[in-house]
Amino acid sequence: MESELNAREERILLKAEDIVNKEPHLKSVLFDEKTIQQRIVSLAEGIGADFEKHGKICVIGVLKGAFIFMADLVRALAMTGRVKVRCEFIRASTYGDELKQSASAPQVELKLLPSEIEGQDILLIDDILDQGFTLAHLQQQLKEQGARSVKLCVLLKKELKQISPEVARLQSRLQVDYVGFTIKDEWVVGYGLDAAQEFRELPFLATVHEKYYL
Ligand code: IMP
Ligand code: MG
Repeated sequence: MESELNAREERILLKAEDIVNKEPHLKSVLFDEKTIQQRIVSLAEGIGADFEKHGKICVIGVLKGAFIFMADLVRALAMTGRVKVRCEFIRASTYGDELKQSASAPQVELKLLPSEIEGQDILLIDDILDQGFTLAHLQQQLKEQGARSVKLCVLLKKELKQISPEVARLQSRLQVDYVGFTIKDEWVVGYGLDAAQEFRELPFLATVHEKYYL
């Protein structure tokens, strides 16, 4: 059994590099599975300690990008034994199939019932904080709908090379409570994140050759 598991691990580790090498759109592995899982365990410890006083968290994932991160984070939270978790999802999209269009408010469908939001201590989960429009917009909507608190958690936070005055203003007001990794201003895929809807299924994070998406 153990040797089977070891063999499987080796195959998976080999595969990340193999997949990147054989797929022309992918540039390099950014974070492998093990690095991501270790970071998630420590994020969950912090979140569990902070929310323990509430007894429960309503974790809301922003689809599609957060689906894998949220699946791993809620399981890591369960293993802290500190809080009960309720899972909800919201669908939001900011960019089209080009990597980045002009900054705009995200299209959001809030399909939660008021009873699911009112009085809740919410942890809003997204894959990545880029300009911040998505999370700022959703956080405000959830507060307006009566959430008691709305904390923000992202796996990745991008250090943007250029920031418009509008984005700078927005980011100065936006407090992201939990960040997995801070990364350079590059397009990343895998572990739920896409480029033109591809590569979400990769179990690791990788950078892409952006010339393919201009
Ligand atoms: P923001 O509203 O500018 O913060 O954009 C955040 C959203 O854009 C994220 O939820 C992602 O869906 C998407 N996004 C931004 N940067 C990347 C990236 O590097 N890879 C994949 N998706 C990204
Ligand atoms: Mg997203």
